[in-house]
Amino acid sequence: MKKIYLYGNWKMHMLPSEAEAFCSELLSGTAEELYSTRSIDIALFPPYISITPVARMLPENSFYKAGAQDGWFEDRGAFTGAVSMDMIREIGCTHVLVGHSERRSIFGDTDEIVGRKLKQAVQKGLIPVLCFGETLEQREAGQTLAILGKQLLAAWKDIEADEIKGTSELPGILLAYEPVWAIGTGRNAKAADAQEACAFSRNLFKERFGEHMDCPVLYGGSVKESNAAELLSQQDIDGALIGGASLKVGSFLGIYENYRKSAD
Ligand code: 13P
Repeated sequence: MKKIYLYGNWKMHMLPSEAEAFCSELLSGTAEELYSTRSIDIALFPPYISITPVARMLPENSFYKAGAQDGWFEDRGAFTGAVSMDMIREIGCTHVLVGHSERRSIFGDTDEIVGRKLKQAVQKGLIPVLCFGETLEQREAGQTLAILGKQLLAAWKDIEADEIKGTSELPGILLAYEPVWAIGTGRNAKAADAQEACAFSRNLFKERFGEHMDCPVLYGGSVKESNAAELLSQQDIDGALIGGASLKVGSFLGIYENYRKSAD
């Protein structure tokens, strides 16, 4: 069975108290003897205010990780409302999402800003999860792969291969293909289309950084228990970035459990 990255993006949900309750339930539901022997990496991306309780509760150096949903690209200064990558690290995050479509469409993150955030994350020793994806209009116009290529090349324009420092345990970067039209709509991409986009992205990554470099590629967009097995069994899909279904321990772990049952 391949290693699965089960990543939960809570978006603007979960008060600190709710995050604590979630973690207690998660820790009791992921029996160490079962989960630690299987290859799984679980990361939670709470809103900033709820990161500290999550990072405190998740056992250190385990298959649980905490991450932020965004981070600013400057070290410090007059950037009202922004949170730096150093701050994110200091409160216990190993990961940060970069370029989520909601940041792009609601908060105005351009390809250039996404590139600067990605560079800053890598330089500060955080593991970025680079999100990218096409809109429905772009898919219907047959532009999907061209758009994905444009977003990816712009994001890593100023990054060199030796800046991406993965280990045997942890990759230096992850990609998350999230078609905009599939996010929060209940309408996931067809498994074959998601596979095509993820394979394309992985190949582009290798072309840019070298054949020996690999990075996990996740799919996101209406992942739930009922579609988990089909999506996660695709050759180039290494895991899922989950929104709505990551807010309840049962549906979050159910995604992995359904895949596991089908792969066993
Ligand atoms: P949903 O799983 O709610 O569609 O959200 C996906 C997403 O945006 C994860 O980052």
